Amino acid sequence: MAGLCFLVFSTSFLILLFTVSFAVDSISPSQSIRDGSTLVSSDGKFELGFFSPGISKNRYLGIWYKNIPVRTVVWVANRCHPIGYLSGVLMINSTGSLVLLGQNKSVVWWVSSVKNVQSAMVQLLDSGNLVLRDMTDGNSSGSYLWQSFDYPSDTLLPEMKMGWDLRTGLKRGLSAWKNSEDPCPAEFTYGIEMVELHAYPDIYIWKGGAKYYRSGPWNGQRFSGAPELRPNPIFSFDFVYNDDEVYYMYNLLNKSLISIMVLNGTASTRDRLTWIEVEHTWRAYSTVPRDFCDKYDLCGANANCIIGESPVCQCLIGFKPKSPEKWNSTDWSLGCVRNKPLRCEESDKAGFVKFTNLKLPDTTHSWVNKSMNIKECRTKCLNNCTCMAYTSADIREGGSGCAIWFGDLLDIRKFPDAGQDLYIRMSASELEEGDGKVKTGIIVGVVIAIVFSGMLVGYYVYQRRTKLKETDIREGNQKNEGSQKEDLELPLFNISTIASATVNFSDHMKLGEGGFGPGTLADGQEFAVKRLSRSSGQGFNEFMNEITMIAKLQHRNLVKIIGCCVQEEEKMLIYEYMPNRSVDHFIFDQTRGELLLFGLARMLTGGDQTEGNTKRVVGTYGYMAPEYAADGLFSVKSDVFSLGILVLEVVAGRRNKGFYHPDHSHNLIENAWRLWTEGRPLKLIDTWLESSCNLSEVLRCIQVSLLCVQHHPEDRPSMASVVIMLGSEIALAQPKQPGFFTEKEHGAGPEIGNESSTNEISISLLEAR
Ligand SMILES: *[C@@H]1O[C@H](CO)[C@@H](O)[C@H](O)[C@H]1NC(C)=O
Ligand SMILES: *[C@@H]1O[C@H](CO)[C@@H](O)[C@H](O)[C@H]1NC(C)=O
Ligand SMILES: *[C@@H]1O[C@H](CO)[C@@H](O)[C@H](O)[C@H]1NC(C)=O
Ligand SMILES: *[C@@H]1O[C@H](CO)[C@@H](O)[C@H](O)[C@H]1NC(C)=O
Ligand SMILES: *[C@@H]1O[C@H](CO)[C@@H](O)[C@H](O)[C@H]1NC(C)=O
Ligand SMILES: *[C@@H]1O[C@H](CO)[C@@H](O)[C@H](O)[C@H]1NC(C)=O
Ligand SMILES: *[C@@H]1O[C@H](CO)[C@@H](O)[C@H](O)[C@H]1NC(C)=O
Ligand SMILES: *[C@@H]1O[C@H](CO)[C@@H](O)[C@H](O)[C@H]1NC(C)=O
Repeated sequence: MAGLCFLVFSTSFLILLFTVSFAVDSISPSQSIRDGSTLVSSDGKFELGFFSPGISKNRYLGIWYKNIPVRTVVWVANRCHPIGYLSGVLMINSTGSLVLLGQNKSVVWWVSSVKNVQSAMVQLLDSGNLVLRDMTDGNSSGSYLWQSFDYPSDTLLPEMKMGWDLRTGLKRGLSAWKNSEDPCPAEFTYGIEMVELHAYPDIYIWKGGAKYYRSGPWNGQRFSGAPELRPNPIFSFDFVYNDDEVYYMYNLLNKSLISIMVLNGTASTRDRLTWIEVEHTWRAYSTVPRDFCDKYDLCGANANCIIGESPVCQCLIGFKPKSPEKWNSTDWSLGCVRNKPLRCEESDKAGFVKFTNLKLPDTTHSWVNKSMNIKECRTKCLNNCTCMAYTSADIREGGSGCAIWFGDLLDIRKFPDAGQDLYIRMSASELEEGDGKVKTGIIVGVVIAIVFSGMLVGYYVYQRRTKLKETDIREGNQKNEGSQKEDLELPLFNISTIASATVNFSDHMKLGEGGFGPGTLADGQEFAVKRLSRSSGQGFNEFMNEITMIAKLQHRNLVKIIGCCVQEEEKMLIYEYMPNRSVDHFIFDQTRGELLLFGLARMLTGGDQTEGNTKRVVGTYGYMAPEYAADGLFSVKSDVFSLGILVLEVVAGRRNKGFYHPDHSHNLIENAWRLWTEGRPLKLIDTWLESSCNLSEVLRCIQVSLLCVQHHPEDRPSMASVVIMLGSEIALAQPKQPGFFTEKEHGAGPEIGNESSTNEISISLLEAR
């Protein structure tokens, strides 16, 4: 017994001596590493040797960080073949293979042989990579005969490639330890999957044979389901996707930081950990799955997982639960089916609905063409009746081109402000009908529609002032018209027709101040009437100019004028009937706000004191620019001001009431300005928008509207600039003080028209058609 003890002691002593005196980073054929001795990388960061995990007595050959007190093993050689205490030996055997010997010199682990035995060497590099190489081949990574980085365990170190080498077929992924005492791979694995070469690559966590988490496909810039993976102060990353290789790799920006990516089988997570020296612990700073919606295919086919919705699973627009009973009992596994089946013969009429901020669906049944642009992509999808959806990321901007999906769309989720666009195919009949029920929060769409209308208004004012010949501004039609009368195709209705259709303008037919309807004309067409005040001082020609102009305003988001009626003192405008009422009914209502999917326009008239015989400044409370309200100075910049307010109203979901009130406590514009200067502009946001829209777009809308309502007209942007500002990501100026109109500033002020003022025309439209 004493002899054995002495033997153990002396062996340990010798090993200690060996370690201290010969801290080396490599072994050649004549050398070996025994249990107790180690290799240390030349910078002293990593160490290779034998260890026992946890309280286990088994010995494994592994690599760990040398300088941190918590033993963190980043790679294991004999993961499922433990060896007994003090029996392990790592060596290059006489035929040039790197072998790990256990009890009785049995080979428990090995890597393939080297041809030239004399020049073989094994080296632990500063990166933590254990490499076997032929010394005569130099030491570039391409010439390694074998490297541990090609066979990761549960840890992805910086500079390590995770992915596929398509030339050799080598696939590198992580596999979690069975438990903290057994490094043998268990059911959790993590890696890049690609159905075939012509599909977007995606990163998965697998649990056993089942998909457990998916990063969302790589689109050339990011993983659509991992928005947090973006430039950051800790690491940079590469995703290489070409004909030779597909891999993900990261690099630490500060090499003195210790940071790793680990697949943790106990917690069922993939974590990024950083070593916190002062606390002597690893801290996780990013983990997937992050939440409920990250669970693979939680909601079943054709459904969207939205954190914050109740329930989190929602059928995509145009789809309904396959089994409403199960769906209502929170069993979403059966997913959703189309309200109306797609029919191939309809393909020329079918269209797509754009979904934003999504994690794109599982790419198992998808197809990619890198050189197709978005138009070709759409056509490709439309021409194949099994195609369900497409997306496109421009290759010139680093995107991965066009992708189209076949069959059910799986594992989609929606992010508040990241992700990608997906265009999902809808049958023609679905597109025609769905609109009233469709719920989207594409606020920028709404705002652009407003801007568009605003431009038309601006145009209108310009025309009136300069008396230029009118130009047809219908989409795509640039031809000049000879005279207004020629193209006035607007039917003039007889007052008796209108009177009978509206039951002689009876109160129960009244839609609101100034409007009647719906009436029905002889041909069955429903209409709404706007009856202008008899006291309007507007002359006949001026009135006809206006309606001719209005009749030419053709936009899907503008209500269409059907005709007019001018008889004696009566002036009436006949509009298309909009059963869903005025847009303000929707914007300023908490519950109906969510239904918003359209534009709105408000025609501002008056102002040109020299031309018409209008006697008063007219306008609608809350929309007039201060210089116009106060001094009657009207310019295109007054329209910009009004637009700014409209945008603010849409964003905030409430009116700019009290605008002229000396007590500004309920003034929207002032509230917006105050929140802006306090650096919390998003406080303005209407609650319904919060859940369904892109916050950075909303922020942009707020900033643009504040630019529009600046006090000095010359500071306000032009309509054209507003369009550019809203439609792009260009940098915006800091808004200056908005134009508050106060009685204090302007004395008593001029007489101001009210909502039902004489020749104010409001156009509102509620429905996308
Ligand atoms: C060296 O190891 C390899 C791999 O285990 C084995 O095939 C070969 O026979 C060994 N050579 C000798 C001389 O033992
Ligand atoms: C090692 O050899 C001894 C004696 O030959 C045998 O009893 C023992 O089972 C062997 N151990 C292993 C792990 O093969
Ligand atoms: C191997 O790499 C090291 C540093 O990376 C360099 O100093 C050395 O010259 C290289 N050796 C050969 C044989 O290329
Ligand atoms: C890198 O990290 C170390 C330790 O955290 C810190 O002391 C050093 O200032 C950092 N270097 C840079 C360039 O940030
Ligand atoms: C894995 O997760 C468990 C449970 O959260 C934790 O106790 C353990 O430390 C984690 N392991 C690693 C290597 O981070
Ligand atoms: C499921 O719930 C919705 C909303 O509460 C309800 O309208 C519908 O009738 C329910 N369907 C079934 C089959 O229970
Ligand atoms: C990909 O798209 C380009 C451009 O439309 C086309 O020329 C090419 O043939 C397509 N490739 C495949 C494999 O369909
Ligand atoms: C439509 O796409 C499927 C799946 O890629 C393919 O098998 C089929 O041939 C395509 N049909 C046409 C008409 O291109």
